[in-house]
Amino acid sequence: APDLAIAVLGCGTVGTQVVRLLTEHADDLGRRIGRGVRISGVLVSDLDKPRDPAVPTALLTTDASALIEGADVVVELLGGTTTARDLVLAALTSGASVVTANKALLATSGPELYAAADTAGVDLLFEAAVAGAVPVVRGVRESLAGDRVQRVLGIVNGTTNFILDEMTTGGLDFDVALTQAQDLGYAEADPTADVDGHDAAAKAAILASLAFHTRVALADVACEGIREITAADIAAARESGGVIKLLAVAERVPATADRGEAVAVRVNPVILPTAHPLAGVGGAYNAVVVEAEAAGRLMFYGAGAGGAPTASAVLGDIVSAARHRTHGGRAPAESASAALPLAGPADV
Ligand code: NDP
Ligand code: HSE
Repeated sequence: APDLAIAVLGCGTVGTQVVRLLTEHADDLGRRIGRGVRISGVLVSDLDKPRDPAVPTALLTTDASALIEGADVVVELLGGTTTARDLVLAALTSGASVVTANKALLATSGPELYAAADTAGVDLLFEAAVAGAVPVVRGVRESLAGDRVQRVLGIVNGTTNFILDEMTTGGLDFDVALTQAQDLGYAEADPTADVDGHDAAAKAAILASLAFHTRVALADVACEGIREITAADIAAARESGGVIKLLAVAERVPATADRGEAVAVRVNPVILPTAHPLAGVGGAYNAVVVEAEAAGRLMFYGAGAGGAPTASAVLGDIVSAARHRTHGGRAPAESASAALPLAGPADV
């Protein structure tokens, strides 16, 4: 069979590392998949921008349509919800499998994209969209598919965890810590998404949708970020024996007289006692605790942001999609999910 053509859309923090790993490990990956793989092109907006030497210049293009047309697997690492949506839909419609790290896109256009993937009978995989390298999407979507998840809670934004940690342990100012998080490649192109909790809310919506087999969108998540947290708040938390963390929580809410069982999802800063398992999660690390009826309490932990850790999750999805295209099979279909009601503010 001819080599699988992989189109990479985006060559920033994550795309660069994906191209590097795909290039360096092409032979190994081909053996694992059972068929050769090649990068057919890398979409960028500026051909003249200086690039990492690991990215072959000859692969760069600004022609998205031509790149998608010939691809078996399209890897979306652009960010944003407009061009990315159009290109992901075009890729799925053309019969390509899609791998994306774009949580904002999934949390706003997920149902439309899942439906397009189902219609085309191809994979739409997004392990990197939640908690970077940590395999929590696969854990919830596949390993726990037979259990009944009661609650998911965790630290799912590396930038804000890094900022809070630096303010707590390093005594840094908020702005200095944010600049460091940007320099390290943890922050979104517009860091407001991190600071105001919207990135964590998008991830919470994705996890809730998978855990409770329902549809939770970004707009359904009650959200408060860390913009208002001051050094005095952090000192007060420490004096009370705690540490401030930005937590995402998604949980089942019992039925009331007016409605059946529902789901509530929120993101907000919380003071955790230092003995809590999430209190010691430092830097840009993420950790997600999943409580399920039969499994009990599980914890997923590791690097939650940054180019190489995120690229690891993207590569895992590329291998899965490539194996399915070579040997048959598909990732679970999400468009069949039933709709559980969302709890109102009074329930949260
Ligand atoms: P960057 O901003 O570093 O890179 C974006 C890339 O996309 C750039 O190469 C840019 O081109 C290209 N691009 C953007 N818009 C267009 C367009 N309209 N046409 C062509 N090319 C375009 O983003 P990241 O790599 O940090 O993030 C990519 C995705 O991964 C986002 O969805 C993000 O949320 C997600 N993610 C990021 C993580 C991280 O730690 N950084 C972790 C997990 C997920 P050019 O280079 O020419 O400017
Ligand atoms: N900006 C995100 C974060 C990247 O800081 O967690 C990983 O999704």
